[in-house]
Amino acid sequence: MAEWWRDAVFYEIYVRSFADSNGDGIGDLPGIRQRLPYLRDLGVDALWLTPFYPSPGIDHGYDVASYVDVDPLFGTLADFDELVAETHDAGLRLIVDIVPNHTSIEHPWFANDRSRYVTVPADGGLPNNWPSNWGGPAWTLDETRGEYYLHLFAPEQPDLDWHNERVRADFDEILRFWLDRGVDGFRIDVAHGLVKDASLADEPEPFPVSRFSSDWRTAIDQPEVHEIYRDWRRLADSYDGDRVLVGEIVFSDQTRVAPYLRPGELQLAFNFSLVFQPWDAKAIHSSIDASLAALPIVTWVLENHDVTRIVTRFGEREARAAALLLLALPGPVFLYQGQELGLEEVDLPDELRQDPIFTRTRGERKGRDGCRIPLPWTRDLPVPSWLPVPESWRDSCVEAQLEGDASMLSLYRRAITSRPSGGFAWRESSPGALVFDRDELVCAVNVSADPLPLPAGKLILASETIGETLPRGAAAWIRREGT
Ligand code: GLC
Ligand code: CA
Repeated sequence: MAEWWRDAVFYEIYVRSFADSNGDGIGDLPGIRQRLPYLRDLGVDALWLTPFYPSPGIDHGYDVASYVDVDPLFGTLADFDELVAETHDAGLRLIVDIVPNHTSIEHPWFANDRSRYVTVPADGGLPNNWPSNWGGPAWTLDETRGEYYLHLFAPEQPDLDWHNERVRADFDEILRFWLDRGVDGFRIDVAHGLVKDASLADEPEPFPVSRFSSDWRTAIDQPEVHEIYRDWRRLADSYDGDRVLVGEIVFSDQTRVAPYLRPGELQLAFNFSLVFQPWDAKAIHSSIDASLAALPIVTWVLENHDVTRIVTRFGEREARAAALLLLALPGPVFLYQGQELGLEEVDLPDELRQDPIFTRTRGERKGRDGCRIPLPWTRDLPVPSWLPVPESWRDSCVEAQLEGDASMLSLYRRAITSRPSGGFAWRESSPGALVFDRDELVCAVNVSADPLPLPAGKLILASETIGETLPRGAAAWIRREGT
């Protein structure tokens, strides 16, 4: 089955918040196993698991203390092996998150071999002007060693030095470890960041402002990073040609992502451009066009564990319409757990927030806890739960949404299983509308304030009950007449 990932629907499992099997309030690997029938019925093709490796949990697993084990919070390697086997039995693929840009300060490498990290002797002030993505300088002084170490994220996440051959060899082994266990690929965290400018020259100021503050110009995104991905691709392909590498490459300009998708490098990269668009037809239209023009294969993302939920960004009706837009676009789609339930961002009291973005910025930025609330499976909401689940989620729990066919879950299930294929072409339409053909199917989304006449044909799926026209904030899939 060549290139299964080309039009796959991936489902991101934020392990800590997906399904808790032992009642400690934290999602775990056996919990995922129990929910495989749900995922199969949803119709997705592949699961992406966020990091479940041993970790002090400063960044909830994105600070890895061992790359080749399972944190006891989430289970054991035996649980992982069973999960892989059962996922495959259910006809799904499974990719895991690999975090090669930085480790945890608790990784033994950090204590035993600082040459694996980017360090600079402390003689004078900070080595350069590089900022941490989460505020403050990207350098922390280790007083006992008399040197600074680099961290593009929290000080507890020191950056590895990818100019060091040993680091490269370590990761070859780590990838093999998981490929041998049967994973279908990797989601590569901060994939554009691994190799730093060896001269450590200042980054031009002012620093570009983006959601993740990752629009770095000179410090990262170095030519040598592509060697790494050519090596990794050869390694992945040496298995059975079926394993996929997905890069998290965050630039607001998608043309900067394209080089990572050259033949022999990564097969996929997240395209975050829709994540940054308001509910505005022109903005969405040009973002889609720019992505299609820039990239040889375009993935589509509206949510993940780092951004505000779409119901909160766009509104509830609009989020339903956005689901039909997303799933009608050509190429792989990434869904984030709870998106299919229409969960909203939760505004937690400050004392409950745990995200380092919140704690490191002294609360100036709210952080990402609001999209990481544990999933509500039944009307008995999970208690205990590492973040509290709102009472109102009894109505949006999976159990409740399976009862009617007007639910968000039901809409996602139908859309995922009837995704269109074939070429993509915009239709002429009024300024507030997004209307395009995919072979025999027309997708129409009304982003304007006025009702939109429905394209001719047979109604296949609508985001809400509609009559002759498509109301504001609604979308429909229509099979063209004569096909
Ligand atoms: C990526 C992850 C994010 C994490 C960061 C540092 O952006 O998606 O959750 O905090 O990398 O590892
Ligand atoms: Ca648990």
